[in-house]
Amino acid sequence: MNSYRIPFNRACFEGKELVYIAQAIANGHISGDGPFTKKCHTLFEQELGVAKVLLTTSCTHALEMAALLLDLQPGDEVIIPSFTFVSTVNAFILRGDRPVFIDIRPDTLNLDESQLERLITSKTKAIVPVHYAGVGCEMDTIMEIAERHGVAVVEDNAHGLFGQYKNKYLGTFGCLATQSFHETKNFTCGEGGALFINDPRYIERAEIIREKGTNRSRFFRGQVDKYTWVDVGSSYLPSDVLAAFLYAQLEARDHVLARRKCIWDTYRTGLVDWAASNDVRLPIIPAHCEQAFHMFYMILPSLEARTRLIAHLKSRGILSVFHYLPLHLTPMGQKYNYRAGDCRVTEAISDRMLRLPFYNELMPDEQAQVIEAIQELTF
Ligand SMILES: Cc1ncc(COP(=O)(O)O)c(C=O)c1O
Repeated sequence: MNSYRIPFNRACFEGKELVYIAQAIANGHISGDGPFTKKCHTLFEQELGVAKVLLTTSCTHALEMAALLLDLQPGDEVIIPSFTFVSTVNAFILRGDRPVFIDIRPDTLNLDESQLERLITSKTKAIVPVHYAGVGCEMDTIMEIAERHGVAVVEDNAHGLFGQYKNKYLGTFGCLATQSFHETKNFTCGEGGALFINDPRYIERAEIIREKGTNRSRFFRGQVDKYTWVDVGSSYLPSDVLAAFLYAQLEARDHVLARRKCIWDTYRTGLVDWAASNDVRLPIIPAHCEQAFHMFYMILPSLEARTRLIAHLKSRGILSVFHYLPLHLTPMGQKYNYRAGDCRVTEAISDRMLRLPFYNELMPDEQAQVIEAIQELTF
């Protein structure tokens, strides 16, 4: 990857990361739930209006916590888009649940809510919308259907921090929602995540599950005089050193979002004419969605066109990448008896999708080179 002049992603520093890490060390509290973790929790709770936020070691772990919190049992069904990262489904498979793969909408690439009713059975316990590329799923319809059937909604908001659907932040709709702070995300601490708890019924047990099945959080608040093993759990809390790094990034959120919007708009403006004359589709953002500017992708006319473009950009030192392979067609998906044709839009799109270099410090001249190189090809 290092041989590319313009990489696909580059970890970006907003300025105060090292200062805050030094402060975390000076505080003498580098394990979990120290002062910086609390600052991150408070920022999210106040800014987004979430009842309770808990930083986790990854979005994967936040999803695992969600599956534990919903008390899912072997044989329960969970509706998940086939077009997502493996963690969205693994978290539920670990509890013995059956994944029910749903296809995506051809416009936003988010789960196709018009197919939900057909897939809900008496065993359905949860729906997991993924706000792909930080563009909101159709949450009004999803929440209405879920509520009517008594099914939980867990938003996988790995891409969509600070994005909005109808003026409400992504991650604040479902009873639970998860965030990622992996190096490839808009806000990072290398590896990290968060569980957003919108239904206060889950708060106390979430604290326990995150603290190895103990009531240590209550002990630290002086609510019990000793802590003990009270439930299942694991170690899902990150070091305060990582929280310090993350807090520096979150403080710079206005700058980060403005920068990413500028990069996204520049790609769109620079490529719109070329796309129209080459049968290439650019992202579609519904008017009621305020996107999080997580990525810029293109849907090319064919797999062959995508292969040509990747090779062409590579010859110019530019790394472009595709994205998820349909989960229902993987060896694991086939174990659940899925086959080609079960999620047709996912299958048609995943072969043709290409993502362009996108990171906060992508310089205007670098971005101009990417756009120029793309325009050298026709299909
Ligand atoms: C939609 C989605 N969910 C979950 C994850 C997992 O995130 P993490 O690496 O923080 O575990 C990713 C990772 O890219 C993702 O794209």
